[in-house]
Amino acid sequence: MEFIRDYADWFYLIGAVLFILTLRGLSGPKTAIAGNRYGMIAMAIAVLTTFFVADHPVIWMIVGAMILGAIVGIARARTVPMTQMPETVALMHSLVGLAAVLIAIAAIIHNNKLVELGPELLAANGVSFHEMSKVHLFELFVGCFVGAITFTASVFAYGKLAAKKWAKTISGGWVKPVQALIFIAMLGFGIHFFLSGSMTSFWAMTALALAFGWVWIAPVGGGDMPVVVSLLNSFSGWAAAGIGFTLENNMLIVAGSLVGSSGAILSYIMCKAMNRSIINVLFGGAMGGAAAPTAGVGEQVQRNYRSGSADDAGFLMSNADSVVIVPGYGMAQGRAQNAVKELANLLKEQGVTVRFAIHPVAGRMPGHMNVLLAEADVPYEDILEMDEINSDFPATDVVLVIGANDVVNPAAKDDPNSPIYGMPILEAHKARTIMVIKRSMATGYAGLDNDLFYNDKTMMVFGDAKKVVEDMTKAINGTGH
Ligand code: TAP
Repeated sequence: MEFIRDYADWFYLIGAVLFILTLRGLSGPKTAIAGNRYGMIAMAIAVLTTFFVADHPVIWMIVGAMILGAIVGIARARTVPMTQMPETVALMHSLVGLAAVLIAIAAIIHNNKLVELGPELLAANGVSFHEMSKVHLFELFVGCFVGAITFTASVFAYGKLAAKKWAKTISGGWVKPVQALIFIAMLGFGIHFFLSGSMTSFWAMTALALAFGWVWIAPVGGGDMPVVVSLLNSFSGWAAAGIGFTLENNMLIVAGSLVGSSGAILSYIMCKAMNRSIINVLFGGAMGGAAAPTAGVGEQVQRNYRSGSADDAGFLMSNADSVVIVPGYGMAQGRAQNAVKELANLLKEQGVTVRFAIHPVAGRMPGHMNVLLAEADVPYEDILEMDEINSDFPATDVVLVIGANDVVNPAAKDDPNSPIYGMPILEAHKARTIMVIKRSMATGYAGLDNDLFYNDKTMMVFGDAKKVVEDMTKAINGTGH
């Protein structure tokens, strides 16, 4: 134990390096498992070292809390379906925020108690005591309000993603002034606390920060929630880093900063891939993104499209040299990933080159398609990112779009008036033949019509993704090559 105390900083350093290796590992599917392992080891080092370094640990309380947390965590991890992952992540961020607030409160109450006892009494009992410095108050102020905002905003994000009734989107002219008022009042009380150490101001600031988290996120549209969750991930990291300063725990500062910066980078990437600005997501209200019905209400023109059966599609694919599969939200919705993998395998057996093209925001959460394909054991080398595959589309015989819509909408390239103009897309329209599996001609997430479906080279195959893909497999099995 003494040994751990003496070398605590070294242990923390090892933990920090392992956390960096974790992020590095998680950047590619092949190294992700190793990355996860590094993370687990780093976390174990961090927790154990902190445990032994603590001044007067109340062991039963710490162990009790850890066991309770582990039970809830393991139970949740075992039961959560893939589709509920985004809201689970949101809920976890809320706990980080709450922890930051509680630690800040505990640190202040603890300090006040010591002040009450008086330096003489403390000195007589061998307790060293330093009055809280301004820097300390500042850390508490920032850690606490970022934590409080993260807490309520994440709880709201959870409610919204889980379609809970209480997570109502708010809108109206009053929202922005109220947001501004709460924010300014929160800062005012925070500054007063910083200058005077007043507990009343501290409580007022915390309560206002909790309220602000809610009114800040409540106007954001449901569809923008994944970006918000990623941003709150970043916030929870900064809150943890702030608390790391309060507790003088280097490990927490490093880990918090890593989470903070990686979350910020991910939010940026997501916004870019959706052609949205972060300011627009956070302060644009519910107007953007989710189902903005821009697709020609009032100018409903009847347009012609071609549709075919799964049999026709299967026949065409089995006679192709190369097939690129573009999965989207519909594959997730229809839980078609295993059927898709079987179809891909069968085509490969018939000598067809089959690859998967992944758009960074296909689906509803970062890495959604990669996770589903990994779950179905699709080999990583068959899965290509947008930049890697886009130049191959013109030489591709068949593109099979499975429940994807916005991410293959050519309007993003050709139509300067389209709300998604400028968003990078998978250039499926350049392939020789395009097949699209979806249930109807309905729009996707952005609420936009898609020219690809009316292209001369396109054949729509209507139906639920899983059923259609299974039928295609059956058809190919029946025909042979
Ligand atoms: P979408 O544009 O939403 O299109 C999905 C299509 O799948 C729909 O048009 C739907 O048509 C079809 N579909 C749904 N269920 C189906 C089923 N069971 N079987 C067959 N088809 C089904 O999806 P996308 O192309 O993947 O694009 C993702 C969109 O989400 C983008 O606009 C992106 O900006 C947005 N978004 C992504 C994220 C992240 S991080 N991935 C976060 C927020 C927003 P039918 O109803 O006719 O079947």
